[in-house]
Amino acid sequence: MAPFLFITDLDHTLVGDDDAMMQLNQHLSRHRDEYGTKIVYSTGRSPSLYQELLSEKPLLSPDAVVTGVGTGIYYDGSTVPDRLWYDQLNPGWQRDRVLAVTNLFADLEPQPEDEQNDYKASFFLDAAIAPDLLPQIEASLRAEGLQVNLVYSGGEHLDILPQGANKGLAMVFLRQQWNFAPERTVACGDSGNDLSMFHSGAERGIIVGNAMAELRDWHDENPSPNRYLATSHCAAGILEGLGYFGFLQLNG
Ligand code: GLC
Ligand code: MG
Repeated sequence: MAPFLFITDLDHTLVGDDDAMMQLNQHLSRHRDEYGTKIVYSTGRSPSLYQELLSEKPLLSPDAVVTGVGTGIYYDGSTVPDRLWYDQLNPGWQRDRVLAVTNLFADLEPQPEDEQNDYKASFFLDAAIAPDLLPQIEASLRAEGLQVNLVYSGGEHLDILPQGANKGLAMVFLRQQWNFAPERTVACGDSGNDLSMFHSGAERGIIVGNAMAELRDWHDENPSPNRYLATSHCAAGILEGLGYFGFLQLNG
C-alpha cells in the first residue's frame, strides 16, 4: 500500500454517523502510521466553530485543517494560519468593495461576525430566490471589476471569497506542498461548497450517499470516472469510496 492525501468535509460528510466514523478513523489512523498518509479536514466552519465540533465528536487529529471554505489553513493543531496561503488570496481581493455591492441586495442577510473573516464575506440566502439572485449579484460584482468566487451551499449559505480561495484550490495547494499526485489524492463531500474539490476531475472524488441535490445534480450532469457517488451515508460512504478506488483494502 502507498500513502495518499485524504481530504474531507466535516458536516454531513465525515460527521453524521458516529459508528461509521470510528471505523473509518481506525483505518485512516493505521494507514497514516504505516504509510505516511495525510489527513486533512476542509470545512466551511470558522476555527472557533471547528473547535466546538472537536469538543463534541471524536475526530482524529488531522495533519491540516482548511477552515472558512478555503480561507485559512492550519497545520498539526496549530492556531497560527499558513501565511503563504494568504499570499495567494490577496491579489484582487477588496472586501470593503464587495460589501458595498452586497449591501445593495436586501435579501442577503449577513452571517454572524464570527463566521466572517478578512477573506470571506458570508450571508444567508433563501434557496427559493437564490437561482434568480445569484446571477444578479455576480453581475454587479463583475461590473465593479471585482473578481471573486461565489459559493452557494446547504440551500442557505452564500460565501463570497477571493478568486484564489475555495476548498478545491486549498486542496491543490496542500497536495503540491506535500507532493501527492492527483491520483493519490481523494476528496470527500456532500454539498455545494465541496464542488470545487471535484471540479478539475484530476483528483479522486467521493460524494457521500446523503449528498444534497446541489452537488448531486452537478455530478449527474458532469460524470467522471474519477468521481464516485456512494450509496452509504456520511463516513460509511467515505469507506465505500476508499474501497472502490483501492485506497484501502477493506476485506482482508
Ligand atoms: C459553515 C460556515 C458558514 C458558511 C457555510 C457554507 O456553516 O459557518 O460561514 O457559509 O459553512 O460554506
Ligand atoms: Mg458538508
